[in-house]
Amino acid sequence: MTQPVWLSERVQWIGAFDPGMRTFDVILKTPNGTTYNAYAVRGSEGVAIIDTVKAECAEQFFARLEAVADYDEIKVIVLNHLEPDHTGALPELMRRAPQARIYISQSAQLMLKALLNRTDLDFTPVHTGDTVSLGDRTLRFLHTPYLHWPDTQCSYLEEEYILFSGDVFGCHFCDERLFNDKVGDFRFAFEYYYAHIMRPFREHVIHALSLIEPLPINIISPTHGPVLRDQPLRYVQRYRELSVQRLQSEINADEKTLIIFYISAYGSTTQMAQFVRDGAEQIPGVRVSLYDLEGGDVDLFVDLVEEADGILIGSPTINGDAVKPVWDLLSSFAKINVRGKLAGAFGSFGWSGEAVRMLEDRLRGLKMRVPLEGVRIKLIPSVAELEQCRRYGQETGEHLMGVNAPRVLDMTELLASRKATLIETNLQ
Ligand code: FEO
Repeated sequence: MTQPVWLSERVQWIGAFDPGMRTFDVILKTPNGTTYNAYAVRGSEGVAIIDTVKAECAEQFFARLEAVADYDEIKVIVLNHLEPDHTGALPELMRRAPQARIYISQSAQLMLKALLNRTDLDFTPVHTGDTVSLGDRTLRFLHTPYLHWPDTQCSYLEEEYILFSGDVFGCHFCDERLFNDKVGDFRFAFEYYYAHIMRPFREHVIHALSLIEPLPINIISPTHGPVLRDQPLRYVQRYRELSVQRLQSEINADEKTLIIFYISAYGSTTQMAQFVRDGAEQIPGVRVSLYDLEGGDVDLFVDLVEEADGILIGSPTINGDAVKPVWDLLSSFAKINVRGKLAGAFGSFGWSGEAVRMLEDRLRGLKMRVPLEGVRIKLIPSVAELEQCRRYGQETGEHLMGVNAPRVLDMTELLASRKATLIETNLQ
């Protein structure tokens, strides 16, 4: 049950199986559990331990470790990622092998001190291209940040072409047969893991692939799920496919895309959305699309949002809030990187009208760029208010294309608008 698994004569899997895990990191579904993969590499001058396991699974890890090495043989501890599912057993490993030197990425240094709550730690920070020798075996480091935390790195066993990839190429899939050519069908788990862990950092995936693709690779050994020894490059290729633009873009290089999502109770916010669109379309180079969120299935839109340059959201205010499909849409943004995209909100309301400001706050919280104050209209928009919507669309388009004229702030107008908002808030 707690036997190590041989990857090669000098490399063993000494991780842990966690078949009962059903939810990971609060939100990820793990319907058949997960594994925490750790490895031992034996060189002529010592042993390296690569990653550890979750604290609750430490017993399995130490049993397997003891079957392949004595603690006083351990010269190196490599931590490719400091998340507790891979460092839970570290304090005890450090206690049992105090002579071992820890190798972490440069960006993991503060994290390691915080994790162990110690300031007296001695370790070696490494960067891409640095190596550590075990005599006749050499580990080379590749800095691959944000896959999945800022600290993450991969390490590569030069003599055997084995990539210890951390969370990259991993998945939550527990099968004691361990190797990808032996376990059940884990394609869904692999794609799900990419979608939730890697996709928000797509540009970092592309950077990591630029380091990984030139390497000869016999085995990919991730920290979760099957060890990829059969056609490992297939998984590298799949990451490449997943990290490029998903939609067949018909947008020219000099055009920008603006997506307007809206939902409407009695048609007023719909009407506003149409005038916002008309205004944005007046700006050369802006390609505008309108999508109604009624029906509530927002997963359809994630690819669109990921590739759009700007997002506007129209929502009525109902019971002092924006409506659920709008919040669901914003929740789905966590799967992708929306930082820096232009954004804004608008909507009609009956008596209080909080939705627009709440949405703007959320958009800013997502680090999106919200350059304009959104349009709020009470009940049915008048001709003048629809013209205000058209102007809002036009100014949004100008910001998107970078052609907006510098605006001179009128302090009287600004103060009056703030005062009106305060009065309204107090009346609610
Ligand atoms: Fe498997 Fe990001 O920890």
